[in-house]
Amino acid sequence: MAEGRLYITTPIYYVNDQPHIGHTYTTVLADVLARYHRLFGYEVKFMTGTDEHGQKVQQSALARGLSPQQQCDEYSQRFKEMWSLFEIVYDRFIRTTEEDHKRTVQALLQKLYDQGDIFKHTYTGWYNVSDEMFISESDVTEEGKQSGRIIQVSEENYFFRLSKYQDWLARYINEENPDFIQPESRRNEVLGLLRQPVNDLCISRPKSRLSWGIEMPFDPDYVTYVWVDALINYISGIGWPDSPEFSYWWPDALHLIGKDILKPHGFFWPILLHAAGVGLPKKLLAHGWWTRGGQKEAKTVTKALAAQAPVRHIREMAADYGVGSIRYFLIREMTPGMDQDYSEEMIVTRLNSDLANDLGNLVSRVTKLVRQNFNSQVPAEKDCETDPRGQELIALANGLSDQVRTHAIDLKPNLAVDALIRYVRSLNVYLTECEPWSRVKQGDLGKRQAAFCLVVALKGLYRVAVLLHPVMPRKMEALLASLGCSIEKDGLNGQFLARDFPEAGTTVPGGDPLFPRIDWKAIEQKIQALSPIAPEQPKGKAGNDASLISIDQFRQLDLRVAEVLEAEKVPKADKLLKLKIRIGEEVRQIVAGVAEFYRPEEMIGKKIIVVANLEPAAIRGLESRGMLLAAREGNQLTLLTLENQSIASGSKVS
Ligand code: MSP
Repeated sequence: MAEGRLYITTPIYYVNDQPHIGHTYTTVLADVLARYHRLFGYEVKFMTGTDEHGQKVQQSALARGLSPQQQCDEYSQRFKEMWSLFEIVYDRFIRTTEEDHKRTVQALLQKLYDQGDIFKHTYTGWYNVSDEMFISESDVTEEGKQSGRIIQVSEENYFFRLSKYQDWLARYINEENPDFIQPESRRNEVLGLLRQPVNDLCISRPKSRLSWGIEMPFDPDYVTYVWVDALINYISGIGWPDSPEFSYWWPDALHLIGKDILKPHGFFWPILLHAAGVGLPKKLLAHGWWTRGGQKEAKTVTKALAAQAPVRHIREMAADYGVGSIRYFLIREMTPGMDQDYSEEMIVTRLNSDLANDLGNLVSRVTKLVRQNFNSQVPAEKDCETDPRGQELIALANGLSDQVRTHAIDLKPNLAVDALIRYVRSLNVYLTECEPWSRVKQGDLGKRQAAFCLVVALKGLYRVAVLLHPVMPRKMEALLASLGCSIEKDGLNGQFLARDFPEAGTTVPGGDPLFPRIDWKAIEQKIQALSPIAPEQPKGKAGNDASLISIDQFRQLDLRVAEVLEAEKVPKADKLLKLKIRIGEEVRQIVAGVAEFYRPEEMIGKKIIVVANLEPAAIRGLESRGMLLAAREGNQLTLLTLENQSIASGSKVS
């Protein structure tokens, strides 16, 4: 008998963006939770996919000279490749351009239309082209209007009677199902939305403006609003309305989403379902954002921030550190629900500490000692002299399954990983205190004591490897193999939990180091090569023609002389200084990556050159308006200053 069921979904991703750390996190989280549930005896269905209709897709296909379908095929393939690289095993990959999905969307809309929940109405208002949403007057910005991102639209459209069900949803969330939206902060956010007056939801787009969508079943001049189309994937993917698969999985649905898409999932989706007579998913978990310098990680991270806090693409990091290690970092570091700032240095510090020092080191020490002193065989019980701490650690190892199970089923895999790594640390402490490497040389009793100590470590490592497998599948398969437990790719199941491994006499083959220590300095140099103040241009010939810019392009740069008025270190950021500078009459703040080369007091009074018209960025939560210029050679960095220091600040550099 299965323990229960889980139908776990990720958002379906837009096919106009490369998968980045944000998409990867949600999908890895879903995969880890799916694997933990399977390990603990649940039946699981895991679905992810791509969201392929709408204006953004149509526009980006057009810009690339492709048909929308070609664009969709190319990008959905990229997501699939990324997920295969990241060891993600889903049961279903849904694409909203599939015929079955289109039919389901139409069936659901027809039902709502027939029962009078959809009506036609002329609407005049502001429309955000990039979010594909009508917005209220208060959300209109000058910049948005000027860039064409926000436009005024007056058109006849179909609307869904969202407001009719507003009170029902408030009751559902507030009184009847307080666990429906997690964490609590997000639940409160939705309740806040429900307390305000609600507009009915515009669910169509005229084909004259947008053709790339699912045709409205009752009016061929319109296509379905992409969000309504997208949300329905969660039920079309399992065969709503008639398939037995649907009734089997739907009551145990868990949607994982980022907090950016809480409103459609926590507000529109439950109401659409309820109106159509479909039950609600069991849970919605909205996690926070991966941020860099306080800014949401996305394709649009400002150039200034990208320059000052460079991080390589997650694929490149995975190539250097290993996919398993990146999965580990993502799961270990983020508390679902909270935002998490990151930098590449943070990743390396975490991996070196938990994986290279704690886990990897323990595996090498133990397997080497067994090889050298016990002919690679697990010592028999009669050859062991037990000790109380070792026995306690064996008991603790046996209790780890329950602990991990509780955290994982509670959707807190970060706590599961934390418990496992803490256990690894206690094994390391035990080994250091027990010193099996010395005891083996201290006669029969010493050798018997060492034997027990190693058996304790091997048993503990086996348990840790099984319980960390959902987080790092390939790596933990390698670890199990090095302990002599042969396992097929993704072949882990509950039986491994029940096993008391290793038995006496098992051969412990050992293996290559699992988590070699990462040399941060070497990585840092690679990263610096990406930063505008860092790259060392080949000396000599000034590049080829493609690298030349016109005088007009150069004039777009507003380079100015600035005087440094104040300078201080940014707490917990070794490389950053916060500077107050004066450019003519104007005083502003910039954050610069020069702290390793200049002390704050050395900066004060200096006249430097800054790019004054760089878009503002938040670096470690601090506003930075501009960028200073500096020359770099190897490990040296020198500010560009003026030969004649009496030149007034604000002077133009040309
Ligand atoms: N297509 C819609 C979702 C429709 S679901 C019915 C969409 N797609 S998206 O490609 O923009 O992906 C959004 C999701 O990616 C977020 O909800 C979140 O899961 C993930 N992330 C994107 N950037 C993120 C961070 N910086 N941090 C964490 N996750 C974020 O919206």
